[in-house]
Amino acid sequence: MVPFRILSALLVSILLIVSSSSVCAKPLTPHWKRDIGRYIRIGYPGRPKSSSINVKKRATTCNGSSDLCNRLYSNVTFAGAHNSYAIANGAGGLASNQNVSLAGQLNAGIRLLQSQAHNSTNQTASGAGIDLCHTSCSIFQGGSLEYYLGQVKSWVDANPTEVVTLLIVNSDGSPPSKFAQAFESTGLVSKMYQPSSGTISRNSWPTLGSMVDSGRTVVGFLSTEADFQSVNYLLDEFSNVWETPFGQTQTPFNCSIDRIGQSVTDSSQLMYLSNQFLDQSLFGGSGSSSSGSSGDALTTPDTDALGTTNSVDTTLSTSYTCASEHNNVNPNFILTDYSTTPSYSFMRGVAQLNGVNYTAPSSSEEGGASGGSSGSSASSLPSHVLGAAVVMLAALFII
Ligand SMILES: *[C@@H]1O[C@H](CO)[C@@H](O)[C@H](O)[C@H]1NC(C)=O
Ligand SMILES: *[C@@H]1O[C@H](CO)[C@@H](O)[C@H](O)[C@H]1NC(C)=O
Ligand SMILES: *[C@@H]1O[C@H](CO)[C@@H](O)[C@H](O)[C@H]1NC(C)=O
Ligand SMILES: *[C@@H]1O[C@H](CO)[C@@H](O)[C@H](O)[C@H]1NC(C)=O
Ligand SMILES: *[C@@H]1O[C@H](CO)[C@@H](O)[C@H](O)[C@H]1NC(C)=O
Ligand SMILES: *[C@@H]1O[C@H](CO)[C@@H](O)[C@H](O)[C@H]1NC(C)=O
Ligand SMILES: *[C@@H]1O[C@H](CO)[C@@H](O)[C@H](O)[C@H]1NC(C)=O
Repeated sequence: MVPFRILSALLVSILLIVSSSSVCAKPLTPHWKRDIGRYIRIGYPGRPKSSSINVKKRATTCNGSSDLCNRLYSNVTFAGAHNSYAIANGAGGLASNQNVSLAGQLNAGIRLLQSQAHNSTNQTASGAGIDLCHTSCSIFQGGSLEYYLGQVKSWVDANPTEVVTLLIVNSDGSPPSKFAQAFESTGLVSKMYQPSSGTISRNSWPTLGSMVDSGRTVVGFLSTEADFQSVNYLLDEFSNVWETPFGQTQTPFNCSIDRIGQSVTDSSQLMYLSNQFLDQSLFGGSGSSSSGSSGDALTTPDTDALGTTNSVDTTLSTSYTCASEHNNVNPNFILTDYSTTPSYSFMRGVAQLNGVNYTAPSSSEEGGASGGSSGSSASSLPSHVLGAAVVMLAALFII
């Protein structure tokens, strides 16, 4: 019996080849990488809902705690969901990274939502023409950007004391004005933080309290093509945030500076994102790149390792190692797969980094996958269906 993983790899390879013209048209990043759900965002776990009771003219409660109102945005560790839109039912298929709805992720404390934007191939779609897909829309179609931003808008409207960050990977190099259409039509533009400059040095970020007071509680980053003059709320990611290697296939996680803006001269003036999700090669074994990253190899989340990868221990030890290498500051963002699994351990770890206690959501707020499903068919494709498709496609190509 040929292992499922190999069959899956074949499927993905075939799909990649078939769709390669659109997938690989343009490098995503300032340097060398482009691919699969590589950007992860971190957010901080927040205390959902109940904190909104305390909204007053001046914010007295931020993320469920008065102490946090005085903390700079840049002095908080935000829990992040890698490919927050790639939501599967249950244990998840090859191209999924989460299995709780967007609202469920936010209710659990995720405050950084990372996503991957592609030019829509949907002939009947209206709007900005951007879909959230994983690697390619033929592999995972996560629905329109409007559908996604609409959910974020509903949540932040209902939770005005929570600060949420959106990290959008601009896979097809679309101009920011195209993204802006979706922020405008969903009304989310009214919640977006608009700084006076597109590059904000680490200590110049506002406090959470002042962001809450202003009602502009959503921070937006775009991986490439950001243009502050044209859209002043989609900030250039790598001028403001650097990342540790993306798609690592070995632990302990590597804390080195991997992607950073080419014109940055002092990395300590930036915030940073720790990529704390573990990939495994579809062909077995770990990636071959020297950084222990998957690079362009075919990888999939190592779901068997989630108990360790998302544990309090790994979250703390990775963050402390990164801090020891980078001016004794903890990561600002930590990106994980299946972020609420198991038992919100990752959230508990992030809470410890912030010096607060974690409150798990009530079961009604947990938000299973169905609540957040994009309504597109692929997002809920169980892995055995993908497996079958692999076999069929593989057969076609081999024959
Ligand atoms: C916030 O500041 C404290 C005190 O300087 C520091 O220990 C912590 O690492 C900082 N966290 C972040 C994310 O900057
Ligand atoms: C999500 O997936 C993980 C990893 O496969 C699994 O342990 C967990 O039970 C799943 N959760 C839900 C709500 O389906
Ligand atoms: C294509 O767009 C239409 C109209 O917006 C929408 O109803 C449909 O679900 C979309 N199809 C996919 C696969 O996203
Ligand atoms: C995506 O669409 C934008 C215009 O809407 C265009 O500038 C860009 O080249 C497209 N990218 C790809 C890879 O087709
Ligand atoms: C850690 O990542 C950096 C940057 O990608 C790389 O140069 C280095 O070799 C990696 N270190 C290890 C031990 O893999
Ligand atoms: C916000 O509250 C959540 C839930 O209690 C906690 O996990 C998280 O660490 C808090 N974030 C900050 C910045 O304190
Ligand atoms: C966390 O909870 C414990 C036990 O309820 C309490 O003693 C402690 O003061 C709390 N810590 C914070 C930072 O709220």
